[in-house]
Amino acid sequence: PQPGWTAHADVIVVGSGIAGLTTALQLRQRVDRVLLVTKTVLNEGSTMWAQGGIAAALDPADSPEDHLRDTLVAGVGVCDVEAVRALVTEGPGRVRELVALGAEFDRDADGEIKLTREGGHHRDRIAHAGGDATGREISRALIAALRRVQDDPGIEVIEHALVLDLLLDDTGRACGVTLHVIGEGQRDGVGAARARAVVLATGGLGQVYAATTNPSVATGDGLAAALRAGAEIADVEFVQFHPTVLWLGPGSSGQQPLISEAVRGEGAFLVDKDGARFMEGRHPLADLAPRDVVARAIVERMRETGEDHVYLDARHLGAAFLEERFPSIVARCRELGFDPATELLPVAPAQHYASGGVRTDLHGRTTVEGLYACGEVSCTGVHGANRLASNSLLEGLVFAHRIADDITARLAAGELPPVPAGEAGRPKGPATLLPETARVEVQAAMTRGSGAVRTAESTAATALALAALAERSLDESAAEPGPQAWETTNLLQVGQLLTHLAARREETRGGHVRDDFRDLDDEHWRGNQRATRSRDGS
Ligand code: SIN
Repeated sequence: PQPGWTAHADVIVVGSGIAGLTTALQLRQRVDRVLLVTKTVLNEGSTMWAQGGIAAALDPADSPEDHLRDTLVAGVGVCDVEAVRALVTEGPGRVRELVALGAEFDRDADGEIKLTREGGHHRDRIAHAGGDATGREISRALIAALRRVQDDPGIEVIEHALVLDLLLDDTGRACGVTLHVIGEGQRDGVGAARARAVVLATGGLGQVYAATTNPSVATGDGLAAALRAGAEIADVEFVQFHPTVLWLGPGSSGQQPLISEAVRGEGAFLVDKDGARFMEGRHPLADLAPRDVVARAIVERMRETGEDHVYLDARHLGAAFLEERFPSIVARCRELGFDPATELLPVAPAQHYASGGVRTDLHGRTTVEGLYACGEVSCTGVHGANRLASNSLLEGLVFAHRIADDITARLAAGELPPVPAGEAGRPKGPATLLPETARVEVQAAMTRGSGAVRTAESTAATALALAALAERSLDESAAEPGPQAWETTNLLQVGQLLTHLAARREETRGGHVRDDFRDLDDEHWRGNQRATRSRDGS
């Protein structure tokens, strides 16, 4: 559709989790006009749902080197070591700045930030807030900081704005986005926002599966738009399945309740239906092994026992401790009829995080000039094949600062010229959109064949099912060009890419588990798989 309105800025930031808000706040002090657009309201993305916390070597007995080592081990040989080094060395300072901005982390009797442990960490290194509501507190603090400067003409926020596509100029440089905005006065319906640089901070893709811990907004919109614009994408076959998601019965779909790894960090453990602690002896860290190891062990135990879940035992921690340390989780469990203080919690793995995404360098630059990516939508290389617990909020924070620094320096050096007047830029939209009704079919096909455990056969069947859906969009082309059809089309395109890369990687590594290639194959597969779609869509 033709844009009905146009907005102008120096930099557009798409998304309002920790990555987008931090980038916008950092840029606001340094460039004239920042436009922040977000799909629903400011606090509805995945940041808000983060329970466990944010990892950083804040304890004097800890060190960035130790954090680096744990991150690389979790990433199973495909992390970018320099990106990890940036993450762990800049992390502690950035967390302290977040505290200075107003984020209130839980503290011990001496007033020091309390640190806990999660899977894959050899030290207590996870700062948390409100017990298990870390993301909510970080989101609150960042939005409060944004509100404090909202009258500043240098920053504009548009809510209920789904990013449709990137606008590229004749040289292939990103010069804006098209948006579908609902009910924001003059800026209603499809419009265009143009700028010298675009930062995608659109979050994850969890809704590509039937069951996920991600909120409903996580439909891979930024990833799909970057793919259509010809940006290089990497590592998307490495999907993280969180081991302990409350099991609500067969066929339960949509956003599922997460039981934070921090519950195991405080001493809870996994058992099977016979009460056996199956993580013991499986890995030196037992129940606190890296997430992929625990998820795989659960899947195997479920197969062996013929059950569709295992159990988390937190009873020995006691009601008083659980209520104080994990107030949100306990309340949610009780609402759903489970009491962690008195009964075993049924749990099973569900999709949680995209370890890959739009490939960036150490400054958050993608392979499309003028386009940056930050947070879960990006692939900076810090996560490799499996993200270390609580490194995601940290990545958003650290790389948002790096991106703001880079854009500022490049603007000063004249490297990001203004968009010429009259230059509209061309969107790279899909030829046709998939009807919203196809969403559950995409999710079912992805869950069946490209989910927690894959084979050549399963990925081939999923690829076929997705191709048939894509044909249907061409045949019917009856989709309403509304946000739901765009989201469904994005899910399809992301699912197709993920399935393609999962089929090609003939080994098991991190979040990518192949039943027909059960071992690591360093000889052939150590390294990233990168994919680029040509701009004509092939
Ligand atoms: C959790 O609290 O278990 C999730 C933390 C994370 O995804 O890093």
